Amino acid sequence: MPNRRLVSRRRALWLGLASLTSIGAIATARAGYQSYYQSLDNPKRDFKVTGYAPLKKRAEAKGIIFGSAIRQDLLVSDSRLATSFAQQCGILVPEWELKWNILRPAPDKFDFSKADWLAQFARTHGMLFRGHTLVWYQVLPKWFNEIVNRQNAEKFLVEHIATVTKHYAGQMHSWDVVNEAIEPEQRRSDGLRNSPWLEFLGPDYIELAFRVAAQADPKALLVYNDYGLEYDTPTDEARRTAVLKLLERLKSRGTPLHALGIQSHLTGHETRFNPKKLQNFLADVASLGLKILITELDVVDQKLPVDAAVRDRIVARVYEDFLSVVLDEPAVIAVLTWGLSDRHTWLSNHAPRSDSASVRPLPFDSNLKSKLAWNAMARAFDNARKR
Ligand code: G3I
Repeated sequence: MPNRRLVSRRRALWLGLASLTSIGAIATARAGYQSYYQSLDNPKRDFKVTGYAPLKKRAEAKGIIFGSAIRQDLLVSDSRLATSFAQQCGILVPEWELKWNILRPAPDKFDFSKADWLAQFARTHGMLFRGHTLVWYQVLPKWFNEIVNRQNAEKFLVEHIATVTKHYAGQMHSWDVVNEAIEPEQRRSDGLRNSPWLEFLGPDYIELAFRVAAQADPKALLVYNDYGLEYDTPTDEARRTAVLKLLERLKSRGTPLHALGIQSHLTGHETRFNPKKLQNFLADVASLGLKILITELDVVDQKLPVDAAVRDRIVARVYEDFLSVVLDEPAVIAVLTWGLSDRHTWLSNHAPRSDSASVRPLPFDSNLKSKLAWNAMARAFDNARKR
């Protein structure tokens, strides 16, 4: 029979050793975590800004347009947000209201009421108005799946684009004609994303969309818009290559395509930012005779330390570092954030924090107080070269 006291002493020893090892592992992990975030954060970095001019004025002084996406219901219900929006933004893009699911309650019906309200708000406050988006694989209305097929898809696409672009003809600064048509991970040789449009019409749906839009609204700048183009990662590299190939193909066929929209949903904890690679990509796009718009800028803070001061500093750093690189390219003519205040951002649902602290990805906090991210943007515009 084993000696009980000896066994329990041994067990205690083992448990002690095991817990020491796990404490060691936790300590090492914590040290790793701290040094990783220290490398992202520089408490001494200066985000000083001269004067109080709003972002739109600072951008305008350099020939750049600044603005943001917004939802109609928010402008209607939140007068303080509406005031800040009008002060800061020179261009407005509806976050929801021009997408198929909102515009097309039924196959034979268009409902422009919310988007028209936003167009009027923009006009009243002297802002440009921008359209997002005519062709996307997401947020198609429920009836779409039941009704649209290979035989009638072209009719639906052409009718939709012609009706919507004519409705706003002469009023739109620019249209995201096609959104997110690239997905190299799906391994097609042309890099195109599987979507109902591709399935029903083949790759030429993209060119068709641009031609219909150009005919109905010859004044609007016609944009191809996509995400995942910013970082020095294999995924983003593949996406840049596929987008460039698509733009080259469209241009070589004389498609009325005028600009690339780079969404720029950036990541606060991502370190693989390579200014040179991004600059080269922007220069390649510009060499095709295209303008570039930063269309949906924000910075995900999901994995950053919870301390708001540290988080805001890291987010601001990402804004300024990114914008100073992209604004160095003269073809970049506009910068839009995807929302203005942390009070309303798609990232609250899409990239929430595990500690349930509220997210802080935008230039204004949830009380509409400007944050360091605002300073970062102001500095980037102030330091940008004039167009
Ligand atoms: O449809 C209901 C609507 O009837 C209701 O009034 C509302 C009340 O909350 O909910 C509505 O659904 C919302 C829908 O937008 C409206 O179309 C969803 O909850 C919401 O999650 C959904 O998300 C939007 C998404 O696009 C789809 O339109 C996001 O807010 C918006 O930020 C996002 O924007 C996209 C760009 O278009 C393209 N690039 C990526 C970007 C972020 O995903």
